[in-house]
Amino acid sequence: MPSAVLIDCDPGIDDAVALALAARLPELELLRVTTCHGNTDVARATRNAREIARRVGIDAPITAGAAAPLRRPAHPARETHGDEGLGYWIPDQAAHAEPDHAAQAIAEVAAATHRLTVISLGPLTNLARAIAAFDHVVPALGPIFIMGGTIGVRGTQTRWSEFNWWGDPEAVEVVLAAGLDIRLVPLDVTRRIVVPGDAVRALRDAGRADDDARFWGEALGFYMDFHRGYEGLDGCVVNDPLAVALAVDPSLATWRDLRIGVSVSDDDRRGAIVVDAEGGAQARVAMTVRAADVLALLTQHVFAPWLTESLVRRGAQQAAQWLEEHPQ
Ligand code: BDR
Ligand code: CA
Repeated sequence: MPSAVLIDCDPGIDDAVALALAARLPELELLRVTTCHGNTDVARATRNAREIARRVGIDAPITAGAAAPLRRPAHPARETHGDEGLGYWIPDQAAHAEPDHAAQAIAEVAAATHRLTVISLGPLTNLARAIAAFDHVVPALGPIFIMGGTIGVRGTQTRWSEFNWWGDPEAVEVVLAAGLDIRLVPLDVTRRIVVPGDAVRALRDAGRADDDARFWGEALGFYMDFHRGYEGLDGCVVNDPLAVALAVDPSLATWRDLRIGVSVSDDDRRGAIVVDAEGGAQARVAMTVRAADVLALLTQHVFAPWLTESLVRRGAQQAAQWLEEHPQ
């Protein structure tokens, strides 16, 4: 029987890939998508989620969520994901503000579903608010796969902090304190999931004749240009789909039980994972990943009409080499 899943996300280029993968995996039944501030503002994230849903065949309802972190203003990552949140792709629909009903949606889906799996791909604001507002949420939830944080790899926001956890560390605190079954998917493993430059260029070529290939080519093309300028990588790291892949097949990673906390300081440790934190939460943390197999899964379910598996699998080697040449 497929696992019932809710995805909370901030699309976002790699969120788009993650949603496409989730839509196509028969092992998952996607019941709801909720959106959050993060890579872009929540109105654009919601509009983008609908654009992706239409393309990849998601019919689960999409509910808009938090426009800002629990205690801070929002900080969209326009340089990484573009002004509209999907790189060079400009959706036809304009973005509109919608009421924030995500916490309530999480509570409703949790109440109606036995051991709901949550996959969190952005800041944790919506989940934290659902936990704080509705007592029945925590006991109703199953595993929570969270793309966030970093242990040994340079952060995406500061040296120590990954963007999602930096984006709302106070929300991370609420989620960690709730006693949930946390499966953390940090940058240490997601950094190994690279779509190589040759694959992105092939998508752009295919896009001359195929609108979906054009969508992926323009979204990932921007991400690739960002990675090239920022860190000299010919390709793009797609973090979020790994959390979806691991929700379906945890054996793609090795896991370690760690006691973790999060720093809420106002310096460059804001959002950093604190390992062995006093009073921290027990979490199962992905430590290594079979990156080539994850890329093969992505090709099979998302990029198969335009790309070969062997081309995309090469991203794993490229990522490993990049990490070797850039010790932290
Ligand atoms: C995370 O931040 C965002 O840029 C991505 O969508 C991903 O969820 C990686 O640090
Ligand atoms: Ca994301």
